[in-house]
Amino acid sequence: MSALPTPNSLSERRPIRELPDELISQIAAGEVVERPASVVRELLDNALDAGARQITVRLASGGVRLISIEDDGLGIPREELTVALRRHATSKIASLNDLETVGTMGFRGEALAAINAIAELSILSRFAGADGAFSLDGRTGELRPVARSTGTTVEVRELFFATPARRKFLKTDATELAHCIEAVRRHALARPEVGFSIWHDGKLVEQWRAATTREQRLADALSDDFVTQSVAVEREGGPVRVVGRAGIPDAARSRGDQQFFYVNGRFVRDKVLSHAVRSAYEDVLHGHRQPIYALYLEIDPARVDVNVHPTKIEVRFRDGREVHQAVRHAIEDALAAPRAGDAVAASGTPQPFFKPTPLPSNASWAQPSMNFVAQERGAGDFEAMWPRRTVEQAHEPESAPSQWPLTGAAPMTFRAPVGLPSDTGAEAAATPPQATNDEAWPLGRALAQLQGIYILAENSQGLVVVDMHAAHERIVYERLKTQLDGASISSQPLLIPATFAATPEEVATAEACAAVLPTLGLEITPFSPRTLAVRAVPGTLADGDPVELARSVLAELGQHDASTVVQRAQNELLSTMACHGAVRANRKLTIDEMNALLRQMEATERSDQCNHGRPTWRQLSIRELDNLFMRGR
Ligand SMILES: Nc1ncnc2c1ncn2[C@@H]1O[C@H](COP(=O)(O)OP(=O)(O)OP(=O)(O)O)[C@@H](O)[C@H]1O
Ligand SMILES: [Mg+2]
Repeated sequence: MSALPTPNSLSERRPIRELPDELISQIAAGEVVERPASVVRELLDNALDAGARQITVRLASGGVRLISIEDDGLGIPREELTVALRRHATSKIASLNDLETVGTMGFRGEALAAINAIAELSILSRFAGADGAFSLDGRTGELRPVARSTGTTVEVRELFFATPARRKFLKTDATELAHCIEAVRRHALARPEVGFSIWHDGKLVEQWRAATTREQRLADALSDDFVTQSVAVEREGGPVRVVGRAGIPDAARSRGDQQFFYVNGRFVRDKVLSHAVRSAYEDVLHGHRQPIYALYLEIDPARVDVNVHPTKIEVRFRDGREVHQAVRHAIEDALAAPRAGDAVAASGTPQPFFKPTPLPSNASWAQPSMNFVAQERGAGDFEAMWPRRTVEQAHEPESAPSQWPLTGAAPMTFRAPVGLPSDTGAEAAATPPQATNDEAWPLGRALAQLQGIYILAENSQGLVVVDMHAAHERIVYERLKTQLDGASISSQPLLIPATFAATPEEVATAEACAAVLPTLGLEITPFSPRTLAVRAVPGTLADGDPVELARSVLAELGQHDASTVVQRAQNELLSTMACHGAVRANRKLTIDEMNALLRQMEATERSDQCNHGRPTWRQLSIRELDNLFMRGR
């Protein structure tokens, strides 16, 4: 293929000429108006810019035959009506400076001209304070007096009548209607104080009354579930404020159809923003699940360029990093706080969220140094309470009575594990945390263990069921992450190194990663050409199988370039490690161990989901239990 004109194409060449005005408009319209929903979007932008409080959308045949949008905004003065239809005519900006700080939805002065080029358009408007209303026919330019109150109605008929090729691309009326409704919904979610109604072929199809709160509008325009299955987001930092709601991981869907992001009230699809959201969910959502969210970014208009895309769906931030961080942290913070109630299985009633209760700092009760990995651990530590025990030992009578959470400061003692010295006096110093009511312990007090898998606990709402492996895995994972953020994971030398017969790849990886392994709290060195020795493991994982841990870490490291793996694949790596360190199913726990796990969950960020996004616990309310037994109260 040659870029040079052949004699043949030379002969066909046309001279350079200016295009006729109408064609210019039609080309320009192609950029802005793709389908009826694009017209709806532009007309709603205009109505909102005019200060409307009530907007009525009327459609016929999916918007192809008719789109009429009526508002009660400021209106257009009679003498400006014809100007409004001209290209590049706007009341919203007048200078470059205005453009750079624009706060209105519109500013290009193109929408009405574009629509007028590809459809039959008329505007009826009464300007605030004017004597009467006027209607302008876009085709003929005829202006005549009509009757209506303050505000504007724009009617668009026979979309693409002049550009039949375009019309062929339209889908069925039902599909086009759905797109139109979605366009209205996007505006409605941005402006809860404005009432919206949508009529199609004479029937009311949607109505969202003016709402006083954003949550109310989200519930009306999306669903009640959207609100109950999401948490409030609110974060202000520097010039950026992020508010709205982010769905709990449980509410994620296979399609990203409930994802709404607004920048200064404008619905946008932006790479920086969606990447920030994805990275905030990275830790709690697995695979290709799509979180639900409605997020609103407020930023100084001078820091964002909205003049990037003809339909204004894209924006460009002056400082993308600043925005990325703000969004990511806002969501992470919101998701991090454990919640009592999101997991209310069937009742669907929103429950108040709770803040994690910090455990008392003097909680030496939980650090009875009864095994040699206890020294690095914090208060209320689950593993620290958990000497290497056998199943038989777990059946021994508990030294701490199961009612201890209710008895407040009742002293509590811990047994030293069999075979370990108890010369530290830890038992004498042990006291339980000061808690006298259920509020301090949102996950309640442990009652029993079921099938070696679930912990059953009682709180003020009823029964709490905890998947102990999933919950513990999250706790271990969060702890490893915090340590690695700090610099490196603290490691625990093994008294007797664990050796294992290794593959040549494992030996090679261990050698290549000799510098990386210590940051992960691991020491793995060649013992012989075919044997590796695990000499130290992360203290947090000291209860697990060191060989299994070493093997899976080496396998993962082997897949990546050793020098970058800790940065790039950090979370997967830690997640693998956590899985190995977490308590296995079928392990018998004492009531104290169960309670310690519950307290740790309350104090751990994101403890509502395991690392794979599955829930770690569920609440069954008394009402649900009553329903199960058809017990009226
Ligand atoms: N519903 C309305 N109420 C009051 N004035 C309106 C309304 N619709 C349009 N106008 C006026 O007509 C002008 C032209 O509207 P148009 O949508 O073509 O351009 P714009 O909104 O200024 O910019 P953009 O092309 O970015 O939408 C607006 O600047 C506004 O002054
Ligand atoms: Mg406009």
